[in-house]
Amino acid sequence: MTAKFSHAIVRKPGENFAHGITTSNLGPANYDLLLKQHEAYIERLKSLGLEVILLEALPKYPDAYFVEDTAVVTPDVAVITNPGATSRQGEEITIDPVLAKYRKTVRIKPPGTVDGGDVIEAGTHFIIGLSERTNKEGAEQLGGILEKYGNTWTTVSVEAGLHLKSSVNYVGKNTLLLTENFADCDPFNSYAKIVLDQVEQYAGNTLLINDCLLTPKGFTNTKIKLQTLHRPIMELDMSEIQKMDGGLTCLSLRF
Ligand code: GLY
Repeated sequence: MTAKFSHAIVRKPGENFAHGITTSNLGPANYDLLLKQHEAYIERLKSLGLEVILLEALPKYPDAYFVEDTAVVTPDVAVITNPGATSRQGEEITIDPVLAKYRKTVRIKPPGTVDGGDVIEAGTHFIIGLSERTNKEGAEQLGGILEKYGNTWTTVSVEAGLHLKSSVNYVGKNTLLLTENFADCDPFNSYAKIVLDQVEQYAGNTLLINDCLLTPKGFTNTKIKLQTLHRPIMELDMSEIQKMDGGLTCLSLRF
């Protein structure tokens, strides 16, 4: 069973968003359009029945609207991360009191680092990507906390892409949507797999909210493949957010 979400935390992108980290070669993002896409995202979450908690931009942290990286929230606990990029360390301090209203919070401690974008939640099983942002020490701390609440966990090495969830996401019904280079990874053996076309890798960042799939607009073959799951599919234009190495999952914390 996948957790049902009733709340989402989001943060407005700041005017200095362009100082955020990006490896994309898609050109500069337009702030007004990025804000519109962010607003459309919020409206979509609301239309799915979620109560949306909108936080103000944090000028000191241009990547802070990628709130997912600051916590891993389960039905029992909110694990506040220690983000792997130095320029993002401190974002998590602002999220702790917000989540503390809903969950007991526990912190990942240095030298452990974890970005929430590296953590797939598939029911009570968690797959933690070891990446440039999430290290082994951080994964072990997180796994230890998750185990205390009856969850299981494993790790997988992220050789390409920013986060694990840049390439692999749980789309319900024991199924992973994933890029070809992850298709044969052992930790994914027990799942059905929908493998993305090479040219549609960005659509790997598809987000399951309760029974609906939110997927980035314009990835026709992925949409056709997702239809085999017989779930409502909703597309959102992510062009400007993609330019900042962001995706549908990174823009919110769902619980
Ligand atoms: N721009 C998102 C990140 O690098 O964390």
